[in-house]
Amino acid sequence: MNGTGEDLKKVFIKTYGCQMNVYDSERMRDALAPAGYVAADTPESADLILINTCHIREKAAEKVYSELGRLRQLKERAALQGREVKIGVAGCVAQAEGEEIVRRAGAVDIVVGPQSYHRLPELIAASRPGHPAVETEFAVAEKFAVLDRIAAERNSNPSPEGGRWLREAETEGVARTDPTHRPSAGPPSPFRGGMSSPRVAAFLTVQEGCDKFCTFCVVPYTRGSEVSRAVASIVAEATRLAGEGVREVTLLGQNVNAWHGVGPDGRAWGLGQLLFRLAEIPGLDRLRYTTSHPRDMDDALIAAHRDLDALMPYLHLPVQSGSDRILAAMNRRHTRSHYLHLVDKIRAARPDIALAGDFIVGFPGETEADFADTLSIVDEAGTMGAFTFKYSPRPGTPAATAADQIAEEVKNERLYRLQAKIDARQAAFMGSRVGTKAEVLFERRGREPGQIVGRSPWLMPVHVDAPATLLGSIGRVVITGAGTNSLFATIAPTAADVLPAGLGPALEIAH
Ligand code: 5AD
Ligand code: SF4
Repeated sequence: MNGTGEDLKKVFIKTYGCQMNVYDSERMRDALAPAGYVAADTPESADLILINTCHIREKAAEKVYSELGRLRQLKERAALQGREVKIGVAGCVAQAEGEEIVRRAGAVDIVVGPQSYHRLPELIAASRPGHPAVETEFAVAEKFAVLDRIAAERNSNPSPEGGRWLREAETEGVARTDPTHRPSAGPPSPFRGGMSSPRVAAFLTVQEGCDKFCTFCVVPYTRGSEVSRAVASIVAEATRLAGEGVREVTLLGQNVNAWHGVGPDGRAWGLGQLLFRLAEIPGLDRLRYTTSHPRDMDDALIAAHRDLDALMPYLHLPVQSGSDRILAAMNRRHTRSHYLHLVDKIRAARPDIALAGDFIVGFPGETEADFADTLSIVDEAGTMGAFTFKYSPRPGTPAATAADQIAEEVKNERLYRLQAKIDARQAAFMGSRVGTKAEVLFERRGREPGQIVGRSPWLMPVHVDAPATLLGSIGRVVITGAGTNSLFATIAPTAADVLPAGLGPALEIAH
């Protein structure tokens, strides 16, 4: 067990990609804890090295194979010292490549897809030199059940050690914001890596997988079909997090607004109803969700944006293209006017909402006129920030074999123009905040002495000249300056502007 002495083993998990992967790495650590694994600081000191891979990046599989080449050498050096090191590959590349990984990378002991992390201890035990364990089946029924088991164990046996262990997670790809995958540039990220304790913001997975089958995307193949976690299980985890001092929860899902379940009232609930329920949990002052599909943005969810103060005014709603022709070829199941109409409804409900998105340029067949439609939808929708991608063919997806692929130079040039527009819009948004007040959840110490960093309602970090005693509280600040991706502020003059957990204005600061 997770006790003292020589029976403790060490695991090092290297995480690539999105928040979903960061969350999954925590799940893997949780699953390994009962088998006696604690976190290793470095791969060199680990008995088990797991790489949690991301498939959306270009040449993702090739990059994993070269990393495995380096790990093979590490494993061989350890063997010379009489130490056995096991190597595992998890995540979307594991799911997509399966047996191919053990064929090509002999040093690998375990290959495990995202649906099977709860089986890691068994897989480790089953793997023998020359006989790797490969588990890439979709066993979706079990996957949220394991989260419940873990939560139940935590509740009956709260462990400060466990908390520290999670917070010391190896975290690569920190600037990515989406459960699928993000580049390092773009709008601010809700990622909580590097945070100082106590943890005040957390992710909570409520949904996994995707049934949309956009013609460019691997997610439906690597993450499987849409599965929603049960209401009771989500409420229990959110309540536990609030009890641990978490004040902001971001609900995660590849298609989070496709979440559905049966509420305690026996009715069919969507994400809107779920958010109303979560907003009732004492201490949970802030809610967010990511990432959404326009087709699943229903009226109840829009009403949640109108009625729930706790639901932060930031929405990541990818549109991908502004051209109806390209949207149809992408199988997006929405049109330009549908998207713009939706944005109008959302803004009517929540006028201060900051809208972010994803865009792909150079999708097969994209003409200059199609691209002009993409540029214009950025302005028409009032997009505040976005992740922009050059289309890149993913083997096995329909668009990869389309005849009319776009030349790389054209993609580069369009990406540059789109990014310039989005940068300008983001700068204008940030500038418009200067001189205004905002409520900030203070999360961690800043790099500069005397500075702490928190999140604005619109997600971007805010660097505030304020004492570390404010960490964990929500305070009203005056925005004094704007950088590219973050804001600068001072504490608003009155003490009544600092709000302890779940209470109105007061003088004492809660942690
Ligand atoms: N090429 C370029 N961008 C892609 N994305 C997904 N698949 C591809 C691809 N093949 C982008 C989409 C999606 C985001 C997570 O990644 O914009 O919303
Ligand atoms: Fe991929 Fe489309 Fe599903 Fe998003 S909605 S995960 S882009 S298939």
